[in-house]
Amino acid sequence: MRKSYFKVIPMSNLNFINEELEKLEEDGLFINIRTIESPQGAWIKVDGKKVFNLCSNNYLGFANNEKLKSASKEAVDAYGVGPAAVRTISGTTTMHCELEQKLAQFKGVESTLSFQSGFCANLAVIPAIVGKNDVIYSDELNHASIIDGCRLSGAKIVRYAHCNPNDLKEKISREENAERRVIITDGVFSMEGDIAPLPEIVKIAEVFNAITMVDDAHGEGVLGKGGRGIVDHFNLHGRVDIEVGTLSKAFGVVGGYVAGSKKLTDYLAQKGRPFLFSSAVTSADVAACIAAVEILMESEIQVKKLWSNAALFQEQMKKIGFDIGKTQTPITPIMVGDAKLAKDFSQKLYEDGIFIQSIGFPTVPVGKARLRAMLSAAHSEDDLLWAIEHFKKTGKALKILN
Ligand SMILES: Cc1ncc(COP(=O)(O)O)c(C=O)c1O
Repeated sequence: MRKSYFKVIPMSNLNFINEELEKLEEDGLFINIRTIESPQGAWIKVDGKKVFNLCSNNYLGFANNEKLKSASKEAVDAYGVGPAAVRTISGTTTMHCELEQKLAQFKGVESTLSFQSGFCANLAVIPAIVGKNDVIYSDELNHASIIDGCRLSGAKIVRYAHCNPNDLKEKISREENAERRVIITDGVFSMEGDIAPLPEIVKIAEVFNAITMVDDAHGEGVLGKGGRGIVDHFNLHGRVDIEVGTLSKAFGVVGGYVAGSKKLTDYLAQKGRPFLFSSAVTSADVAACIAAVEILMESEIQVKKLWSNAALFQEQMKKIGFDIGKTQTPITPIMVGDAKLAKDFSQKLYEDGIFIQSIGFPTVPVGKARLRAMLSAAHSEDDLLWAIEHFKKTGKALKILN
């Protein structure tokens, strides 16, 4: 008989997992991950079924764009498939440098540095700029990657009320002994769709000599001229110290970046741990990102179509009687409250051919479960109107609507 080389872990050590999974099921919080069998787009094939896609962050339809795809294919031929090590050890490709220059031009900043994802960018930048003698002021609804970056830094974390500059001012004026202070906010809040009051935040930062950092993951490709993001939207160029971005949403690919001064990106290339200790994204990804930036620099067509689709959908949903919160962007929460009811709503819509996942705790607070519709330039008006009719019918059947 062959000898087993694996040490058998007694199941009792992991019994808590069963209990946790059962609890998630009971509370309607178990996430059912669907399998997608087609490219991203307005219509996709999920678990063998063709469905209308209302839950991807493919804002501009770039995830299956022909120009991006050919750029990727050419990059594989030119550079192969893998980076083979981290950039500080094995060097960087000309394509990574080109992307960083193009992104800087697009965002109107001196320099950018790319990372493996937006999540990694937050984990890199926050612990690199603040530590145990410093204080972070963080909007209470900031994204998980900001929260984790703050925790990793070891700095004191002070949460201020969501989008509330008065609360921020009150809290920042109380803290006197910090060596450095940084105010961090999402630009567009991913579960609400509202926009951070960045002009007020910047004014407070200027009074208290605080560093400002905004995560523009849902703002780029969406807000500002041709999708240049929240800083452009509010005309705050030169007044925000650090911008974090992702290439996985409007840009349609994968990756993240930090934008700001050349000194900042030089520093992060020496001190940002995910940059130093994890390989970069592949040349195929980078080439597609370059193509996405080039399209955005040439034309505003996709950004305009995204906003007109969002206006149509939101106007109709409100008219029918849905509570879509305080969104100011194409992110459209459809408030349900109870997590099990939200899951049921999502399942019934799926049976009708609409793919929209329910979102519950811990992504949103307990009792604030919802569906979140993500509008895209790839959607047609006819398809949106068709989907709205199903929301109405199912919303009534489940008594979410009167
Ligand atoms: C505000 C915010 N920051 C960062 C991220 C992470 O981006 P990525 O998917 O590139 O890691 C997200 C994605 O959900 C986000 O919403």
